[in-house]
Amino acid sequence: MDMKRERNDADLRPTKGGCVFCGALSTGRSAALSNRGCYCEACYLKSRKQEANASAHAYEGFAEALVAALDLREHETGLHSKRVACHTLVLARCFLSSPEHLRDVYWGALLHDVGKIGIPDAVLLKRGALDEAEWAVMRTHPEAGSRILAPLPALAEAARLVLCHEERYDGSGYPAGLRGNEIPLGARLFAVIDTLDAMTSDRPYRRGVDFDTAKAEIERMSGSQFDPLAVEAFIQEEATLRKMVALKCDAALVP
Ligand SMILES: [Fe+2]
Repeated sequence: MDMKRERNDADLRPTKGGCVFCGALSTGRSAALSNRGCYCEACYLKSRKQEANASAHAYEGFAEALVAALDLREHETGLHSKRVACHTLVLARCFLSSPEHLRDVYWGALLHDVGKIGIPDAVLLKRGALDEAEWAVMRTHPEAGSRILAPLPALAEAARLVLCHEERYDGSGYPAGLRGNEIPLGARLFAVIDTLDAMTSDRPYRRGVDFDTAKAEIERMSGSQFDPLAVEAFIQEEATLRKMVALKCDAALVP
């Protein structure tokens, strides 16, 4: 009998003395622990799930910390980021059901402007309109944001949304001028919500508009700035979004 066959047969024998966690004598494939005995399969899978949940919580905390850091630079950004992350999830649920995919969209929307941490105050906090040179600096923030997240494999999908959040459906956005389905779904959904939030929020220099005015603008830009499917989802979820905008609900829908 060769070594590989012998090991496979050993895996199929009951765990010696039972699972170290639940005591069950498993006849299924078990996972050996070098110095503590064996897990039964159920406890092994459960422990892996707990590890995955713990790392998801750690990343969530990290994402919130980054947004808090950005909020110190530009006070409105943090609240805006939380709102658009929650509201983008309302649209994302029309297309996605996996908690992992929904979490990627949430993190990406939450961190969309994190690259603004690197924009100088003279540009980031300027009250008036930006000139062309200042716009050139401002347009670096999606790439800067995705570079900040690049060392974190668990945030790779979120980093794609961050990189593409200023792209437009008709190809007139930045940094790459992507068009249509070249833009990740999360970023296409986010674009609608970002406009909704920006238009309905007060700014130091203007009052926010009401939901119906923002809705009319979003419908007008369907097929140019926005993916028509994202606008359809917006209309489908109008009642929920209308309430959320009224409440400026900011943290109730994290998956
Ligand atoms: Fe942005």
